[in-house]
Amino acid sequence: MSKVHVFNHPLIQHKLSIMRDKNTGTKEFRELLDEISMLMVYEVTRDLPTEEIEVETPITLTKSRTLSGLPIGVIPILRAGLGMVGGIMNLVPNAKIGHIGLYRDPETLQPVEYYCKLPADAEQRLLLVLDPMLATGGSASAAIRFLKQRGCNHIRLVNLIAAPEGVKRIEEDHPDVDIYVAAMDEKLNSHGYIVPGLGDAGDRLFGTK
Ligand code: PRP
Ligand code: URA
Repeated sequence: MSKVHVFNHPLIQHKLSIMRDKNTGTKEFRELLDEISMLMVYEVTRDLPTEEIEVETPITLTKSRTLSGLPIGVIPILRAGLGMVGGIMNLVPNAKIGHIGLYRDPETLQPVEYYCKLPADAEQRLLLVLDPMLATGGSASAAIRFLKQRGCNHIRLVNLIAAPEGVKRIEEDHPDVDIYVAAMDEKLNSHGYIVPGLGDAGDRLFGTK
């Protein structure tokens, strides 16, 4: 069963409240998503394995620890996932980035794929799938399915806001994938938008509405 990690860090909650406000403009929205994504990396990577190495400091030779597990891949779901890439890359600068293009058909709410370009060694990486919104879960579930079809099996999902419906969908479709989310919201409305949510993440991020 997927583990769901909900962050209740005061800084994240404070910044998210500003993002939710409908009067927050595109520039501030983008900056806040970047900052929250960076803060989230801390928890998402908390259990990564390390190994002991020897380091010569200016003072002495010592034992110290370094990351030893799979290298990381960052997979934003276009468009809105792009807004999380910069913050994550600040902390894992050697990660490779793959892109999955999906949009949700407004009538059927089903995900439609239009782009996929992954690092050549994606299946040998720990992949962090990024999307600010986990609503019905259809887009994230499809993205994870594409990754698994290409041989990737070490996957974590990172969202800003999730609806219970989306979490349930991922737990059912991909019980091996843990979910990291800054806030769990109440429900979906009849148009598939998260309530209270923050509206359309892509439009608010890129100023397209
Ligand atoms: C939004 C969001 C997710 C998806 C969530 O993208 O960024 O990808 O909807 O909904 P779901 O969980 O019900 O699938 P959208 O389809 O609006 O595309 P965009 O990012 O290009 O605006
Ligand atoms: N996509 C969004 O951008 N926002 C929602 O609330 C649901 C899907």
